[in-house]
Amino acid sequence: MGKGREKQGMKTISILNLKGGVAKTFTAANMAYELSRRGCEVLLLDNDKQGNLSKAYGRYDAESVAPAAKLLSGDWECPEELIQKTNYIGIDIITSNMSLLGATWDLAKEWKADQTGRYKRLKDTKVEGYGRAVTEPLAIEQAYDYCIIDNPPDLGFNVVNALAVTDEVIVPVKLDNYALEGLDIVAEQVEEVKQFNPSIKLAGVLVTSYQNTDGESAGLEWLQEQGKYDILGVIKYSKKVAENSFLQKPIYEYSPCCGAAQGYKKFVTEYTGKAR
Ligand SMILES: Nc1ncnc2c1ncn2[C@@H]1O[C@H](COP(=O)(O)OP(=O)(O)OP(=O)(O)O)[C@@H](O)[C@H]1O
Ligand SMILES: [Mg+2]
Repeated sequence: MGKGREKQGMKTISILNLKGGVAKTFTAANMAYELSRRGCEVLLLDNDKQGNLSKAYGRYDAESVAPAAKLLSGDWECPEELIQKTNYIGIDIITSNMSLLGATWDLAKEWKADQTGRYKRLKDTKVEGYGRAVTEPLAIEQAYDYCIIDNPPDLGFNVVNALAVTDEVIVPVKLDNYALEGLDIVAEQVEEVKQFNPSIKLAGVLVTSYQNTDGESAGLEWLQEQGKYDILGVIKYSKKVAENSFLQKPIYEYSPCCGAAQGYKKFVTEYTGKAR
């Protein structure tokens, strides 16, 4: 296997940027799809109260307490309460909605020792009928190859809990004005998290919605020359994405030839060292 899979068991990736609208959710959704197309079992964790990743996979439920909120509050017994299948083989999801806001707020008020370890409890729990644990119970760590966490554009307690279980952080950036401002803050935050998760690392940045304008190409050049962060890929802007967001499908399914679909395919091939 390639460089993305040195570790045995599940690899947990956080998609993180403190800026809004930089394609975090779109990246989580399409990365999961590309990984599943390579035969990987993927668990998605929607860690954003907006629930956009849950919507993208047609599993958004505004009414009940969301599984992501239960996970954060510790108010769950078995993983079947948290994990749902999607319409895609190899992609399961822990969904979110506004109830995650309350759970995050409650945790911030508690000041208990376990404030950063809420998502850890899931990893070793045995699951049956999900991922590759279809015939026999397996620990989540064994049932999935990847857990991809879509984070909101902030650093609330739910994000801190996500970083506590994260192996690698991917930072999507859009090279418009001030795009690179938040990058050092994310890098600093990853350093801070090492106090309670020493093995976390910043994998690099993924340039998203790239348009070959003077401004954006200068930004890309600057990023390359600066050499501070690995550039994991460049995803082109595609009109098809904007036009079809209501379709709730991975971009490759409705516009396989567009720059964005090809971009995610190439990025995941390079990231995993595995073509499809
Ligand atoms: N390659 C692309 N080409 C065109 N539009 C894109 C592309 N990638 C993402 N978008 C659009 O950009 C918008 C923002 O994307 P997305 O919701 O994934 O960002 P986000 O970082 O998750 O935002 P938030 O911070 O609100 O969670 C969406 O409307 C999405 O369809
Ligand atoms: Mg989002």
